[in-house]
Amino acid sequence: MARITREYVKSLPKAELHMHLEGSLEPELMFKLAERNKIRLNYSSVAGIKQAYRFTDLQSFLNIYYQGAQVLCTANDFYDLTTAYLQRCKDEGIDHVEPFFDPQTHLQRGVSLEAQLDGIVNALSDAGSRWGISYGLILSILRHIPAEEGMKVYEMARPHIGEFIGIGLDSSERNNPPRKFAQIYEAARADGLRVVAHAGEEGPPSYVWEALQSLHVQRIDHGVRALEDGKLVDYLVDRQVPLTVCPNSNISLKVYDKMADHPILRMLEQGLNVSINSDDPAYFGGYLIDNFMAVDRALGMSRKEAALLARNSITASFVDPERKAHLLARLPMRDIQN
Ligand code: ADE
Ligand code: ZN
Repeated sequence: MARITREYVKSLPKAELHMHLEGSLEPELMFKLAERNKIRLNYSSVAGIKQAYRFTDLQSFLNIYYQGAQVLCTANDFYDLTTAYLQRCKDEGIDHVEPFFDPQTHLQRGVSLEAQLDGIVNALSDAGSRWGISYGLILSILRHIPAEEGMKVYEMARPHIGEFIGIGLDSSERNNPPRKFAQIYEAARADGLRVVAHAGEEGPPSYVWEALQSLHVQRIDHGVRALEDGKLVDYLVDRQVPLTVCPNSNISLKVYDKMADHPILRMLEQGLNVSINSDDPAYFGGYLIDNFMAVDRALGMSRKEAALLARNSITASFVDPERKAHLLARLPMRDIQN
């Protein structure tokens, strides 16, 4: 079996579909923005920050992640954050991105939606013209906040609807089932947006069913716990519902004890439409190619598997059909048919 290398993964046409912009805030940029905005951090050094990144579950991570996001105050900050991520994408040969951002995290601190969008959208547009990276931005609703508040944010976003490709649902999954957000999703679908949701990361398979049946999502973010329900697996395979899986995240947040236990390659083998994604790269030890290489180290990844995962990232994306066909045509068919 021909194993992958970083260069091989870099050469594949690929999309990243599950990445939170706030989760790409590297400690160095966190310090720089804290200084720029005169914000006191709880850490005295980059090493001190990295020391704090030892998580026991999703909530222990979210507490630190929301704290870190407090340094993002101006359009300029969002521009720098997004540009730093897109620079990584260029370096890793990523052709298309559909990042999430969490407006509520910043609205709570008095940072307007307009400032957030100004920075993010300009950075995406500049990366598009500079590096040829295509994109679709996903507005994510925080599920630990009441759905009525989420609806208000959605209403606030409506005048800017042209800036988004879709909506998502993230944050603390346990005890926050998807059905609570059905009204927001109905409005978004009526407005012509694409719809995705985190489900089956820490939450049970029933949350994946709910995301599909109450929210009518087109992709599931994570979804690894779907494996506990055979009927659900059959449903996902039959309909080729994409699952955006994040291996390093699952290990950092103790969904699995170690990468050798991760089911990503078994899921691919079962015919599930899985792709590899970085989730919160600054917090979970690496960007997209790092995730491929971590799986390879623990489980061994063939070129064929990597090419199939890259193909799934493109077929599952919301990129326009013409570009989708162009990206798919760049896949190494020799490796796929091997
Ligand atoms: N927000 C950022 N990363 C997340 C994750 N892995 N799960 C839920 N919400 C998140
Ligand atoms: Zn996520």
